Amino acid sequence: MFQEISQSSIPAFFGKRRPAPLRTCRLDTETRQVVLHVVGTFLKANLYRSAPPSSKFFSVKCTSTVQYSISPSPQETSHLAPIPLSGNSVLLISMSRASQYENDSKLSVQYYGQNKDLLGKAVLHLTAVEISLDVDADRDGIVEKNNPNKGSWKWGPNGHGAILLVNCDSERTYGKKPDAEQDYISKVSDLKDMSAMVLRTRGPAKLPEGYKLTMHISQGDAESVRVFRSRSSDVVNNTMSKLYNYFVKDYPLVLSSEVLSQEVPYLGGVAEMRFYVEGLRFPDKDFDGLISINLSLLEPICTGLPETPIFTDKVVFRVAPWIMTPNTLQPVEVFVCSTRDNYQFLKGMRNLVAKSGYKLKICHESVNRGDRWMQDELEFGYIDSPHHRFPVVLDSPRDGDLRDFPYDELLGPDFGYVTRVAHKKDVSSLDSFGNLEVSPPVSVNGKNYPMGRIIIGVAFPTATKGRNMTKVVQDFLWAQKVQEPIALFSDWLLVGHVDEFMTFVPAPDRKHFRLLLASPDAGYKLFRGLKNYGHGEARLFEGLKDEKPRTVDDILDDDHLQAENNYVQSCIDWNRDVLKRELGLDDEDIIDLPILFKLVEDEDTGEYRAVAYYPDMVNMIVLGKNLGIPKPFGPKVNGRCALEAEMCSLMEGLGLSCTFIDDFASYHKLLGEVHCGSNVLREPFNFKWWNLEM
Ligand SMILES: *[C@@H]1O[C@H](CO)[C@@H](O)[C@H](O)[C@H]1NC(C)=O
Ligand SMILES: *[C@@H]1O[C@H](CO)[C@@H](O)[C@H](O)[C@H]1NC(C)=O
Ligand SMILES: *[C@@H]1O[C@H](CO)[C@@H](O)[C@H](O)[C@H]1NC(C)=O
Repeated sequence: MFQEISQSSIPAFFGKRRPAPLRTCRLDTETRQVVLHVVGTFLKANLYRSAPPSSKFFSVKCTSTVQYSISPSPQETSHLAPIPLSGNSVLLISMSRASQYENDSKLSVQYYGQNKDLLGKAVLHLTAVEISLDVDADRDGIVEKNNPNKGSWKWGPNGHGAILLVNCDSERTYGKKPDAEQDYISKVSDLKDMSAMVLRTRGPAKLPEGYKLTMHISQGDAESVRVFRSRSSDVVNNTMSKLYNYFVKDYPLVLSSEVLSQEVPYLGGVAEMRFYVEGLRFPDKDFDGLISINLSLLEPICTGLPETPIFTDKVVFRVAPWIMTPNTLQPVEVFVCSTRDNYQFLKGMRNLVAKSGYKLKICHESVNRGDRWMQDELEFGYIDSPHHRFPVVLDSPRDGDLRDFPYDELLGPDFGYVTRVAHKKDVSSLDSFGNLEVSPPVSVNGKNYPMGRIIIGVAFPTATKGRNMTKVVQDFLWAQKVQEPIALFSDWLLVGHVDEFMTFVPAPDRKHFRLLLASPDAGYKLFRGLKNYGHGEARLFEGLKDEKPRTVDDILDDDHLQAENNYVQSCIDWNRDVLKRELGLDDEDIIDLPILFKLVEDEDTGEYRAVAYYPDMVNMIVLGKNLGIPKPFGPKVNGRCALEAEMCSLMEGLGLSCTFIDDFASYHKLLGEVHCGSNVLREPFNFKWWNLEM
């Protein structure tokens, strides 16, 4: 009902979307009323209620610092002349600028009787303050002043809302642990992992007696956020370099799970107080990632009674999700293990990585204790915000002998760490992160996934038993939201990892990638072709120690093997259909690689599950245009391996170069290949996750 009035007569504050808060104040002809006013809000006074009996007219007068309007709107142009008083006469008061001194503004209402004789006078003594709790709601890395959208969060390029990082790296290298695990700032460099929040105030040197500012969070949010304050922030225009000279004690803890509400000083004059907000945990099943922080101005009532808030400002943050990086992103560093028996493999990897121009990090046996499955123990990802970003390793609950590597070797300054703890009994081979992959960006029936979709392997959907990725990890992955996961069927494999039958490589055309799938059908087709061209006697596994060579004819005559591979092809085809549907792929986006499997008995369950018959070429490492592929040891034709030749011809069309790496003895025989034995830290996406349309 006051819309009309406020628009016509109140300047300054009303370009805003937020409705200005309204507070009722008393007018009193007996005692002088003292009011602390917050710029951007309204005071509403009922003229009739406070009028002396038999008042018929009123007039209003005020200092130039005060604006007001009258409802219903009077005919008179000057409010100094008596205006008829009616039962619903209301005065709406505001001030557009902060006061320099306490009580420096004044508004008075005079009441008149029938004959315009003066009956009484009510005086308001006003002090105005400006209060704004500010965050980077427009996501440009700068904390702007009083963004109208700071109290809510919206996805998309036209969205808004501030962003918080989980402070999961460790500034300390000695006695390190993720910074979020301690409730103090041990190094000033830690501030860059936090989101700046600024309390801007303007007003007299101090607040009127008894008034105070408090900051608060809810019990629920307190598990996810901590707020520190900079003591040095009574200086306007603080620069970071200046801040770095201060000591740790200059950043007192303001809010935490122990302290949900705390008074913050009012500095007086024109002031900016800087706060640092720290995220403590990632979105998960029980946490949607949103947290809010309130700042209230409290008014004293009288001693013994609690103060009441007369103004509250609210800001909202969303905790940045953990994001995975697909094969199509630029590599930074390649990780492999060195064991006493993998010299041949390491040599191949060294050459490939050097040729491609990336860094190679070798985890030595003293750390890996013989566990060579670098892919399985961890997944690299990152977190991103407008002010900062850094890589974060997700540590698998697999916990093989490599279990200490992510924490001991990777966690550090600007390298974060996160894990999910599962019960030992719930952890299976499907919890290894060879079973956790991510697609390149896709668009599916008009829905965009500009950062791709996470892919995991689970038991067949209708199976009542079977192995699954543990629930705590699945819940975590789904809660990140920005790379909505797809569950494939991988339990048909003995090891059970999706990377045993699929991968993605970059491509210059179409969707800028191809899905590569292992295909027994493609394998049989190739072998039949060899036989038809008179190469039935060509032998697989030739020259390998302790490995019985087999001819192409042997393979084609083995009905049992054919039956097993028909089953495997049907399992892969089921996944192929899911991938086509969930990633919006056409058959032209998929390349079938000639790979055969065989079934072996699972010692734990007595069930038969699949393993690769010869090195599983799809289990490759993708470094830009260079592919490191398990050397298949296929049948040779004119001195060249027919499987390698086929692989190269399929990849060359995409401008990719194949390097075959001998992993036979040290990986293939242990049921893994090149991809299982390596890991790649990659550059993040250029795309900003908060620009996703959800
Ligand atoms: C403002 O007015 C109140 C109420 O009369 C009084 O208590 C207070 O001292 C005044 N402040 C100043 C600075 O004059
Ligand atoms: C913050 O303020 C909003 C409205 O101003 C209120 O709904 C919410 O409960 C407050 N939260 C806390 C933690 O005080
Ligand atoms: C395995 O996980 C999937 C995906 O979350 C779920 O749909 C399925 O019910 C689970 N299966 C079993 C057997 O637990």
